[in-house]
Amino acid sequence: MLNMACEIAGVPFKNPIVMASGTFGFGKEYAKLYDINRLGGISGKGLTLAPKAGNPGVRVWETPSGMLNSVGLENPGIEYFLKEEAPYWEILDTARIVNLGGGCMEDYRIGAEMITAHEKKLREVGRCSIDIIELNISCPNVKEGGIAYGVQTETARQVVREVRQATSLPLVVKLSPNAENIAEMAYMCEIEGADGVSLINTISGMKIDTRSRKSVFHNLYAGLSGPAIKPIALRMVHQVAQHVKIPIMGMGGITTASDVIEFIMAGASVIQIGTYNFMNPRAGEQMTEGIKKWMEQEKVSTLEEIRGIL
Ligand SMILES: Cc1cc2nc3c(=O)[nH]c(=O)nc-3n(C[C@H](O)[C@H](O)[C@H](O)COP(=O)(O)O)c2cc1C
Repeated sequence: MLNMACEIAGVPFKNPIVMASGTFGFGKEYAKLYDINRLGGISGKGLTLAPKAGNPGVRVWETPSGMLNSVGLENPGIEYFLKEEAPYWEILDTARIVNLGGGCMEDYRIGAEMITAHEKKLREVGRCSIDIIELNISCPNVKEGGIAYGVQTETARQVVREVRQATSLPLVVKLSPNAENIAEMAYMCEIEGADGVSLINTISGMKIDTRSRKSVFHNLYAGLSGPAIKPIALRMVHQVAQHVKIPIMGMGGITTASDVIEFIMAGASVIQIGTYNFMNPRAGEQMTEGIKKWMEQEKVSTLEEIRGIL
């Protein structure tokens, strides 16, 4: 009997395949293609307190083995999500993760409070729509010149502390690969009471149009994702795993079941699939079959046997 299940902060994942924020909407579109309840979990598009229109101009650019994106966190806002999208999440049988962003400390705190209050009310009547808050600290701090919260440990600490105080829901902090020291950042999250960390978000990159002699992106830089970043992501997951005891959601360039196994060997409890969803919309359902096959061939009956073996 093969067992792919695991648990993060008491939340069960039937398998380690989770869909990454910003590449899976809120799940409805993919549910037309396959039964998304077969997934370990889904992380919805990043939400902010107020709706955001996103960045003007070019938003995505294909690169060798990946893509750059400058979507600018376009989203309908937390209130809309809770009213219009969360009811659909209530009927799902998979771990449901809200990805929370913000431009200032109050945004993060009020956002976390709104999500928590909504969920508390539902649970009082025996219902439930959100299992975990994934805190996106890669957002620019608009009051401090736009440097992302997730670069310096002490700046990130303030956000993690504020949100930890604002919610009783399981909290996973999503780390930026642009952090000055990612292992130290993860350790800070553990000390501040996070239930887990997820990594990595996109890596800052650039594309220049040589004819106009300008960046193709309105915001100059954009986030690199996809297979090109996998070796970096894997190394960072391994480094973080040496420094924290809380569970890790690993991601960055995963496209095969073998990639998933690598991340688990580096120390991840579950993994997330992002850009590959755009290349293969059925990635989620196919990946679980691939892992099963690998486990059978290698005579591994639980993923616990290989987790963090490196
Ligand atoms: C188009 C796009 C939108 C994204 N939006 C978000 C987001 O809203 N919040 C977030 O935390 N990460 C976001 N990400 C980052 C992904 O969730 C993931 O961390 C990153 O792309 C690395 O994984 P991958 O190489 O499998 O795509 C986005 C990525 C892409 C490509």
